[in-house]
Amino acid sequence: MDKKALENLLHDMSLEEKVMQLVQIPGSEYEADAEITGIERGQVKDDVKRLVGSTLGVWGSKSLKRIQEQYIKEHPHHIPLMFMLDVIHGHKTVFPCPLGQGATFDPEAVKKGAEVQAKEASADGVHATFSPMADLCRDARWGRIMESTGEDKLLNSRMAAAMVEGYQGDDLKDRNHIAACVKHFAAYGAGEGGRDYNNTELSEHTLREHYLRAYDEAIKKNPVMVMTSFNTINGIPATGNKFLMKKILRDEYGFKGVLISDWAAVGEMINHGFAEDQRDAALKAMEAGVDIDMCSGCYSGHLVELVKSGAVSEAAVDEAVLRVLNMKNDLGLFEDPFRGIDTETGAVVTAESRSLARKVAAESLVLLENKNKALPLKNGKTAFIGPFANTKRLQSSWAFSGEDENTVTVYEAAQEVYESDKIKVSEGSTIMDQDAVTARGKCHVDNWEEENEKLLKEAVEAAKWADTIVLCIGEDSTQTGEATSKASLKLADVQLNLLNEIKKTGKKLITLIFTGRPLELKEVAEVSDAMLVCWLPGTEGGHAVMDVLSGKVSPSGRVPASFPYTVGQEPLHYDIYPTGRPKPENGPSEYSSRYLDCENYALYPFGYGLSYTTFEFGDVKLSADKMTAKDKITVSAKIKNSGDVKGEVTPQLYIRDVAGSRVRPVRELLDFKRITLEPGAEEEVSFEINEEQLRFWTAEEKWASEPGKFFVWIANSSRDGKPAEFLLQM
Ligand code: GLC
Repeated sequence: MDKKALENLLHDMSLEEKVMQLVQIPGSEYEADAEITGIERGQVKDDVKRLVGSTLGVWGSKSLKRIQEQYIKEHPHHIPLMFMLDVIHGHKTVFPCPLGQGATFDPEAVKKGAEVQAKEASADGVHATFSPMADLCRDARWGRIMESTGEDKLLNSRMAAAMVEGYQGDDLKDRNHIAACVKHFAAYGAGEGGRDYNNTELSEHTLREHYLRAYDEAIKKNPVMVMTSFNTINGIPATGNKFLMKKILRDEYGFKGVLISDWAAVGEMINHGFAEDQRDAALKAMEAGVDIDMCSGCYSGHLVELVKSGAVSEAAVDEAVLRVLNMKNDLGLFEDPFRGIDTETGAVVTAESRSLARKVAAESLVLLENKNKALPLKNGKTAFIGPFANTKRLQSSWAFSGEDENTVTVYEAAQEVYESDKIKVSEGSTIMDQDAVTARGKCHVDNWEEENEKLLKEAVEAAKWADTIVLCIGEDSTQTGEATSKASLKLADVQLNLLNEIKKTGKKLITLIFTGRPLELKEVAEVSDAMLVCWLPGTEGGHAVMDVLSGKVSPSGRVPASFPYTVGQEPLHYDIYPTGRPKPENGPSEYSSRYLDCENYALYPFGYGLSYTTFEFGDVKLSADKMTAKDKITVSAKIKNSGDVKGEVTPQLYIRDVAGSRVRPVRELLDFKRITLEPGAEEEVSFEINEEQLRFWTAEEKWASEPGKFFVWIANSSRDGKPAEFLLQM
């Protein structure tokens, strides 16, 4: 439809029709085959349901075709309904959870994964996904760190931008692409205490320098939507926050797309104590420029009256409605309301999608310990023990449209590699302690005690039989994701008990950690010969794990979010400020910024990860030791594979601005790349630094670089390397 026709359509619509285009209701209100919202039908009156602009949480080519046919027929102007869904890390083919995708440090692979996810979702009738999540997160207590790509603004920027490109492609009318939605705007990951839906207290420079960066970079890729976040920023809910939504998002970022609230976030401004009632909440959301109210009922219940009373101008409503109609038009829905629906097969897992998922999952695995080259696995009798050894639940709570039965378990994959008489499997324990609380309530197992005694006994028998034990433990997928903040980062006691009992057998112990967040792994590391973090690896998780354990693929994942010694260190991140009394790396540290009972730094820091080979990083070389704003400096270093197998390494470029009008982090990631080196091979990697990359939010409240000394590293983690120096001159 051309612009004029769209404007004519808008002009012909009644006020009520226009308002309802700004309303989104749960998909459970429709007779849909596949529902996730689980909210009982009938909460929305029919006269609203037949006019709403969009729905969410349903998929399925046949049911969405049927719903769309009926909706268009009944709508006074036959405007198509939009179907939105949380395709967070997979639709039918499930990729690693986003934190695992962050660990790949491979934006290109992540983009390809998003392309597959978009194609599958579109075949099932989905028009838009609520992804990427660009929230920076420094606090592992927050369950949604699983949905982020970690603690670093640059890594998150590259990943979020790659996902937008993968979902949307170059042409949104292309049926293999869907609309992206950058969320949760903004700073949702900074909630006090690591708790969801909470307040965040952030200075403008921390907000701008760290928390906003990935949204900014992702929005430069023109996502169709942005979603407001549940948190307040300095006392003002994001969903009613004009500074965020008008000044930053619309004016500074130039975002012209659709701003959708998070689920019921408009109405939750009442709970926050920012709105008096639903009418007031609707008014405040409109004043902040929220286009679509997701499932709160505030717009459908009050916006018509707000316009009639003059509290909200009809022009403001028209502006919002035009953005929604433009979204439908850009998706090609007016010409083809069934654009992507494949009623023959719908979305299916294919050999190609599995192959890509397997590659990305293998790249996501982070080898944290490998004592005496315990890995890759040698031949011999191997027991796969633990609650994750043979489970198909290797995906997160946000991969609900991906059927578990498609998942390849670790043991199933091992059976493809080992002779049957060389492997055993044993569950070993339940994942959780009795009555552990999950996102779905308390997890109570009848006869839990007896069950675990039996499991443990069988596991110890299997361990005694084996030469090597692959212990598969971790965090249940219902204990990570939304509303799953935890005050402890320890593994369940029942699993730690399994670990210690297995260790008593004295066999070689390879520990795999399946988790959606950094955990406290010090005691696990101490008793393991090798330790591999597998995140929630998705449909091809078993194959990916075996590819790495067998040595077919050398591990290349890097820590995307710091692993602490203890939860008491949280929030924890590498790009800290030096303080007035930095704790000395060695020697006495009295009267310095330190803990009496713990390290300041992470047990496994950002950017860290082992390979099956070793790499030697040469000294950093600079093309010049000074630069002005007009120049660039080329920074290079030779990297050698000093081991005896091929490996992938991710050299990371860090800088430190030694002094500024505001204090500056001890290190900041400026760039990274993945390279593959054959044994003995050496390659010179180089990066360019320009003045723009040295800018920060200065004491004069503007983006600028400042003259002075900089340290620069090309390193194998945020804690490695020896810096070179250069001067920025004005
Ligand atoms: C949820 C989440 C958001 C998701 C939305 C729709 O509460 O906060 O990430 O996209 O609702 O399911």
